[in-house]
Amino acid sequence: MERFRAYRIHETDGVVTAGLEELGLDDLAPGEVVIRACYSSINYKDALAATGKGKILRRFPLVGGIDVAGVVTDSEDSRFRAGDRVLVTGCGLGESHDGGFSEVVRVPADWVVPLPAELSLYTAMAIGTAGFTAALAIDRLEQNGLQPDQGPVIVSGATGGVGSMAIDLLDSRGYEVVALTGKTAEALYLKGLGAGSLLLRADLPAGKRPLEQAQWAGAVDNVGGELLAWLTRTVKPWGSIASIGMAGGSELDTTVMPFILRGVSILGITSANCPMPRRRRIWQRLAGDLGPRHLDAIVSGVVGLDDLPAVFGQLLSGQHRGRTVVQLAGTD
Ligand SMILES: NC(=O)c1ccc[n+]([C@@H]2O[C@H](COP(=O)([O-])OP(=O)(O)OC[C@H]3O[C@@H](n4cnc5c(N)ncnc54)[C@H](OP(=O)(O)O)[C@@H]3O)[C@@H](O)[C@H]2O)c1
Repeated sequence: MERFRAYRIHETDGVVTAGLEELGLDDLAPGEVVIRACYSSINYKDALAATGKGKILRRFPLVGGIDVAGVVTDSEDSRFRAGDRVLVTGCGLGESHDGGFSEVVRVPADWVVPLPAELSLYTAMAIGTAGFTAALAIDRLEQNGLQPDQGPVIVSGATGGVGSMAIDLLDSRGYEVVALTGKTAEALYLKGLGAGSLLLRADLPAGKRPLEQAQWAGAVDNVGGELLAWLTRTVKPWGSIASIGMAGGSELDTTVMPFILRGVSILGITSANCPMPRRRRIWQRLAGDLGPRHLDAIVSGVVGLDDLPAVFGQLLSGQHRGRTVVQLAGTD
């Protein structure tokens, strides 16, 4: 039986360890579709899972990696055939089911998205869960009434994967984008992606009134905690906040005032279990009207499976910028 390399995570007596292993197909969780993986990508959740810093994994041992793009080699489901170019993000991949940090991936057919013809396998993973989530957030904000003429949209965690993608996509839709970051040194990078102006986390006002000066037509929040509370107090009447992440905390200490006096909405964004019809529609938008324009700048590195631990460290320390793609076999 063919052997292949995979980055597998173990837990022994509560201690999480991970590394490269040689596996065979029988070692992987069951599924109808076998994929020769070409690219994966590294997300914050992957770093939490592989280091044990977050309780992400629901069984051990497990191959990490919540994203993968590649070519079908075998399918027991009539919707897919050998040679099809496909991608999988979330759905339990790298969380409850062996994931994308592997040269061969096996998944349930219901999780598989045909690669839109306009995208290469590499581009799909440069976008990955981060870009898909940013697009899902913008889609929901617009469904809730956001339009470019309503005023600035603020993006927190701006230099991260989701933040960078959100800035790029919002700018290409014609929005005025304000990047909220902790990294002064990345001003040129953020402006290059399309941010019209920058706000530094350290410069945010310390006020805690239930309502403060209304500034943002919308917000894409990757940070949570006090920052999300501040956003609820500063979004304009009828504006919306897409709540994506918790890089800065999972609590939310606010009042009902923004909701009942300004009609502010918090829209929950969950990419992992996004229903398939919406999932396919968002990927089609990423290949079309919501396509990124600055992926070359956003991708800060293309690495191999051996390099994963170093990138996990950068992500967890908040020092990583943009997106890192993992090359498994691809050149496309
Ligand atoms: N809901 C979903 O479906 C979904 C999908 C993907 C990701 N997420 C979540 O979204 C968040 C961002 O993901 P990502 O992949 O973009 O991660 P990332 O690349 O690590 O970016 C996170 C960014 O947040 C900022 N940050 C880091 N630590 C912080 C802290 N202590 N306080 C405030 N800001 C901090 C940093 O940006 P600056 O220095 O520029 O501020 C950092 O670059 C994570 O919490 C992730 O789990 C959720």
